[in-house]
Amino acid sequence: AAGTALRHFLADDDLTSAEQREVLELALALKADRHSRQPLAGPRAVAVIFDKPTLRTQVSFATGIAELGGFPLVVDGNLARIGVRESVADTARVLGRQVAAIVWRTFAQSALEEMAAQAGVPVVNALTDDYHPCQILADLLTIAEHTGGLARSGPALAGRTLAFVGDGANNMGNSYLLGGALAGLDVRIGAPEGYQPHPDVVARAEAIAAETGGSVAVMTEAAYAVAGADVVATDTWVSMGQEEQAAEREAPFLPYRLDSRLLAHAAPDAVVLHCLPAYRGKEITAEVIDGPASVVWDEAENRLHAQKALLTWLLDRAGETG
Ligand code: NVA
Repeated sequence: AAGTALRHFLADDDLTSAEQREVLELALALKADRHSRQPLAGPRAVAVIFDKPTLRTQVSFATGIAELGGFPLVVDGNLARIGVRESVADTARVLGRQVAAIVWRTFAQSALEEMAAQAGVPVVNALTDDYHPCQILADLLTIAEHTGGLARSGPALAGRTLAFVGDGANNMGNSYLLGGALAGLDVRIGAPEGYQPHPDVVARAEAIAAETGGSVAVMTEAAYAVAGADVVATDTWVSMGQEEQAAEREAPFLPYRLDSRLLAHAAPDAVVLHCLPAYRGKEITAEVIDGPASVVWDEAENRLHAQKALLTWLLDRAGETG
């Protein structure tokens, strides 16, 4: 049974700004000493379920769960067919009797919420149509490492500016808004009309920024978004599940391609992030992603450390680590 402080990570703002900072501090500690925490010793299992393609997420969660002393139980969503063969609620009840936590990549945020409501163990969003909060934790860790560390106190990355150019309406855009605002970043989204973040997400991010001292701005001009930024991020123009829209998305997104001309608007020492997989010649040029500003391999490694910290933090709160 769950402890009294069962917590989930379904969207970036399921953590407060102070809690996000705690997780990032723990991630840095775990990166320095990878086997220093064993909250899953036994081993206890964590179910890691994929209804969409994966490489980084599967490998980083499986590796991380093993390093935490646990057993990563990777579940193929095509076999489980959660919500089709069996309801989300029944699946949650069955899994919650056996595993210490559930990590799920799926389509609908509402399904993830239903899983969390019924599981009795921590549930973690490993990407939905709406959010990719584990990726943003890894990105914040990477920004800290490359732009002067965590702030001495308060929000983790206060005073730094992050620009995200491309699909502002996808999971990465939403998570940069919420997670970035929590970290105290000045977040700028440069996205075409029709692909800008939902006003509800922008309003949530603005409310967070008002507390953390960060800020949020959404604009159509990519160069304005990037101007003077310390961090420039982009993502695929065609997210998983949108494959049939690939052709119609080409023209509107072309002005948002992250090439050296666009990057030249950023701060001279700016770093470039991309959650990967990258499509060179589409949303980012080879020159930029393979160039000196790119920190995407650190970013990919940091999935491991950030997620280990998150799981440890959630398991501590759930009272599951004794
Ligand atoms: N926005 C992308 C992120 C991939 C990690 C997608 O959802 O496909």
